[in-house]
Amino acid sequence: MRILPLLAVCAGLAVSSVQAGPRPMPAESKDAFIARLMAQMTLDEKIGQLRLISIGPDMTHEQINKEIAAGRIGGTFNSVTRGENRPMQDAAVKHSRLGIPMFFAYDVVHGHRTVFPISLAQASSWDMQAIALAARTSAIEASADSLDMTFAPMVDISRDPRWGRTSEGFGEDPYLVSEIAKVTVRALQGSSPAAPDSLMASVKHFALYGAVEGGRDYNIVDMSPMRMYQDYLPPYRAAIDAGAGGVMVALNTVNGIPASANTWLMQDLLRKDWGFKGVAVSDHGAIEELTRHGVAKDGREAARLAIKAGIDMSMADTLYLKELPGLVKSGDVPMGDIDNAVREVLGAKYDMGLFDDPYRRIGAAKDDPPDVNAESRLHRAAARDVARRSQVLLENRDGTLPLKKGGTIALVGPLADSRVDMMGSWSAAGVPEQSVTLLEGLRDALGDRGKVVYARGANVTDDQAIVDYLNFLNWDKPEVEQDPRPAGDMIAEAVEAARRADVVVAAVGESRGMSHESSSRTSLFIPGSQRELLKALKTTGKPLVIVLMNGRPLDLNWERANADALLETWYAGTEAGHAIADVLFGDYNPSGKLPISFPRSVGQIPTYYNHLRLGRPFTPGKPGNYTSQYFEEKTDPLYPFGYGLSYTSFSVSGITLSAPSMPRGGRIQASVTVKNTGPRDGETVVQLYIRDVAASVVRPVKELKGFRKVALKAGESRVIRFDVDEAMLKFFNAKLEYAAEPGDFDVQIGLDSEAVKSARFELL
Ligand code: NOJ
Repeated sequence: MRILPLLAVCAGLAVSSVQAGPRPMPAESKDAFIARLMAQMTLDEKIGQLRLISIGPDMTHEQINKEIAAGRIGGTFNSVTRGENRPMQDAAVKHSRLGIPMFFAYDVVHGHRTVFPISLAQASSWDMQAIALAARTSAIEASADSLDMTFAPMVDISRDPRWGRTSEGFGEDPYLVSEIAKVTVRALQGSSPAAPDSLMASVKHFALYGAVEGGRDYNIVDMSPMRMYQDYLPPYRAAIDAGAGGVMVALNTVNGIPASANTWLMQDLLRKDWGFKGVAVSDHGAIEELTRHGVAKDGREAARLAIKAGIDMSMADTLYLKELPGLVKSGDVPMGDIDNAVREVLGAKYDMGLFDDPYRRIGAAKDDPPDVNAESRLHRAAARDVARRSQVLLENRDGTLPLKKGGTIALVGPLADSRVDMMGSWSAAGVPEQSVTLLEGLRDALGDRGKVVYARGANVTDDQAIVDYLNFLNWDKPEVEQDPRPAGDMIAEAVEAARRADVVVAAVGESRGMSHESSSRTSLFIPGSQRELLKALKTTGKPLVIVLMNGRPLDLNWERANADALLETWYAGTEAGHAIADVLFGDYNPSGKLPISFPRSVGQIPTYYNHLRLGRPFTPGKPGNYTSQYFEEKTDPLYPFGYGLSYTSFSVSGITLSAPSMPRGGRIQASVTVKNTGPRDGETVVQLYIRDVAASVVRPVKELKGFRKVALKAGESRVIRFDVDEAMLKFFNAKLEYAAEPGDFDVQIGLDSEAVKSARFELL
């Protein structure tokens, strides 16, 4: 890269088009450098920096490069190779008037070329090292592909599994999701977002997107401030405190005002209260949508509201380019608002190291790797390990699992041999052809020691309207492939396979598009075609192992009652088949725990463990007793938050507290002895919950405040100590002050959110 002649830059002169971009002078501060650069920019060049453009069919490469050279694009997303991005960087650095580099972003959510399990699955591992490994590997692969920024982590708290994007987040709990948010941001950004192998993290979707009414995507969000502060905002805050350089703004309203026009959210909360200093990016087309929300009468007003609220970059922009020049000229938008936004965009580029070297992640053409995708053995091994750790064993009657490596296994189900579905939604640059299906995984694990007989058995759904809908989602090509045979024939073939086998493994659930953006459901059943298959298999009397592949909690009443073993594998990524086989054969002892409650039915939603206390809580055993319940079914979830079995068993002793009371600013220790009481080595997650016995506002029945993943050999026991300090007792009171109140607290420790031991102490 060539350096600007010092004189020209210092004098703020126009920079010749052959020079390769502005660069900080030795010892020049970030602020001074950006101020110097901005002093040279025209209004149009400034507005150009605020535009984040999708690379796709809308514009040819030539058109894009022309726009970039004209200074009308600040960054792009959706182009994922060095070869694609280099000409764009050339256009910016070598051919635009000022040579300001572009940045390249992408949705690297759970892997880039090597696809890791979906976020909800990773959260099920409760394993921060595994999650960090997934994010670090993603950053290494994506930055090597010339990417600078990812639109991740997605930390929207989700308590409504009807919402398809539940799969993209880390579950229902503010503490767990916040811990994961921190770990992920640090792993993505590495030593610094400027490092050549780092990605800048843009936490999303700010804010509250997971609380869309009725779980219907893009619906409104209306929420009390106390709930917002207590339950939904902490993960975004955690990501920002961990240094996330970007924030993506949600598509939804926040109490009547769209997030993209919400000055309280974007200015008062994000910038002033939280001190966020990075770049705020709109979601796709969100500024245009302000007219459809009905808060802007036209595009001009939408652009004005968005820039005023503090949306620095407009994703898939049409309006900033068109409207901002006029808005500034008429005085409706002060130049200061434009400058603030430009400062953040340039600041992000500075933080990503792009002014030091715009090609730091693009490299030289001669070094471009062949487009080999997920070929790194090391990364695939990491993906396999994370995938094993992400599975949750829900049922295991009479030691059905692990399976013996021998005999005949009938493998059935529409997901048993579907590569594309293993990837889950937002699978970045992952290539389905390189993912391992369960059929392959079982065969690889068995070798010649046993036999796998495969029959598809059913389509994911027989409802053609649903198939059409799923194929219409934004995949490169339609991906739900229907087997044209009559359903009865497919089932008959599967039953025949089952009859000849020692055990049946049924891989069923949702195709990946069913748990995706814009994929909300009204039912949580496994689709009827697959349920019919399961029922037929059940009639064979053969042991039935159901392997679930899905991206949200499902209504599993039937499966729970009828399966001999039930294993939740989510969408496990590139190495899915191997990782699931590892668990099925006991080469890995499952240790995952649910990061979200599984309801008994759709009618029971929202079913989350940390709900507020009630004046008339449900009291079991007293029918018709005017306590809070649905009289038609049980009140507790089908599977609670934090639940998951192992091939061994664990016991937890009563809690010992180091003191009966805690002084202000002090801490006490809560300890339990955890014992592996079963026959195998294994891992479990010891969970610490706290319940405020009485406070000035109604508090949750319990809240997760700590956890520890513990590996114990068969028969081994270990004392697990948790420090409990005042910070863990704090909450937002009616004035939204964050403080702990004196009084009694219950410490609860257990292996899921329901099976806990309890002890009480007093905060003085
Ligand atoms: C829309 C989605 O809501 C968001 O999560 C994603 O990052 C952008 N599109 C860009 O792909």
